[in-house]
Amino acid sequence: MKFADRTKFLKSSEIREMLKYSQMPDMISFSGGYPNPHAFPSREIVRIVEKIIDKNKFVLQYGPTEGIKELREALKKRMQKKGIKTDIDNIKITTGSQQGLFLLGEILINPGDNIVVESPTYLGALNAFSIFQPNYISIPIDENGMKIDVLEEKLKKEKIKFVYTIPTFQNPSGTTLSLDRRKYLLELAEKYDFFIIEDDPYSELRYSGENIKSIKSLDKNNLVIYLSTFSKILCPGFRLGWIIADEEIGKKFEIAKQNADLCSPNFTQYIAEEYINSGIIDKQIKLIRKMYKRKRDIMLNALNKYFPKNSKWTKPDGGMFIWVEFHEKVDVKKLLEYAIKEKVIFISGAPFYATNPKYNTIRLNFTNTEDNLIEEGIKRLSQALKKIKEGD
Ligand SMILES: Cc1ncc(COP(=O)(O)O)c(C=O)c1O
Repeated sequence: MKFADRTKFLKSSEIREMLKYSQMPDMISFSGGYPNPHAFPSREIVRIVEKIIDKNKFVLQYGPTEGIKELREALKKRMQKKGIKTDIDNIKITTGSQQGLFLLGEILINPGDNIVVESPTYLGALNAFSIFQPNYISIPIDENGMKIDVLEEKLKKEKIKFVYTIPTFQNPSGTTLSLDRRKYLLELAEKYDFFIIEDDPYSELRYSGENIKSIKSLDKNNLVIYLSTFSKILCPGFRLGWIIADEEIGKKFEIAKQNADLCSPNFTQYIAEEYINSGIIDKQIKLIRKMYKRKRDIMLNALNKYFPKNSKWTKPDGGMFIWVEFHEKVDVKKLLEYAIKEKVIFISGAPFYATNPKYNTIRLNFTNTEDNLIEEGIKRLSQALKKIKEGD
């Protein structure tokens, strides 16, 4: 056998597989978690590059593994505004949050360790963690996020390493963990001695409702490892994210990162720093929120108009996704075949479950489709649904 044994845990993401369909002509794609390209501040990026490229000899150079100091300073201030007090030494820049998740898996998971995930959860996290062979414990979610009382029952019986959560506008479901549950989760982390990995790519993308404090901002005992990213508030092409962790974890993380890629690109880090410090970031986020709110509303209205009454879907206050649960007899695999013929695609829900998948679920992305095609896409999907004779 040519390959290492652990490669049997390497899985290709279904989202990547769907890419080939999304590039077909006239296809309406609700599949990837792509930001809208109109939300990228392209002109501003050009101006920033012109400003910094000749002036700063480090822009095109290798950089420190933990990330350039200027960007970590800027993030420290920004995080402080969100109630997260941290020192710049506790902030490490990553090559996207995805790298953060992978490296946390590398430094924290032993084969067989119990780790808790939401059910469903972010597929990319499952793929990043699985190579380290954890034992997944899945906790169901409802409209207020992870059911912490169910978690507590598990904790009475099993020792766990960490809880991985996307508490705000979760990928894939769009749901948000309530403040009470955030506090309850922190209490449990203290009582049962585990970490919380708070993955927060979406909290800046709120379209309705009140802000809810991050778990990290409520954490007094350094139990939370916080991750965020520039992917949805600047652009994913920069491949920039960051983690905030205590000194011990930060040090190990930094060595693991050094071995993985030496450093994240200085080039995009200096641009991101200027993007924050010039204040462009806040204007841009305002614009993105407005654009995505409109798209969310169009999709929710279309779902109301076209989808069968025996299906249900989430009504997210932010983020990029709506999660649909059809009547249990709907076979989503079949639905996808029909949908592709109707020229619309989505992501089936089953791969987002670490255990016990629900095969009658799908994830819809609403950010990357032109306004005038969102309703048409949902209409096509409802036609595909009719064709598979729901209830058969
Ligand atoms: C919950 C979650 N975590 C992490 C990521 C990875 O993001 P990045 O582009 O920063 O690697 C994503 C991307 O969609 C995500 O939805």
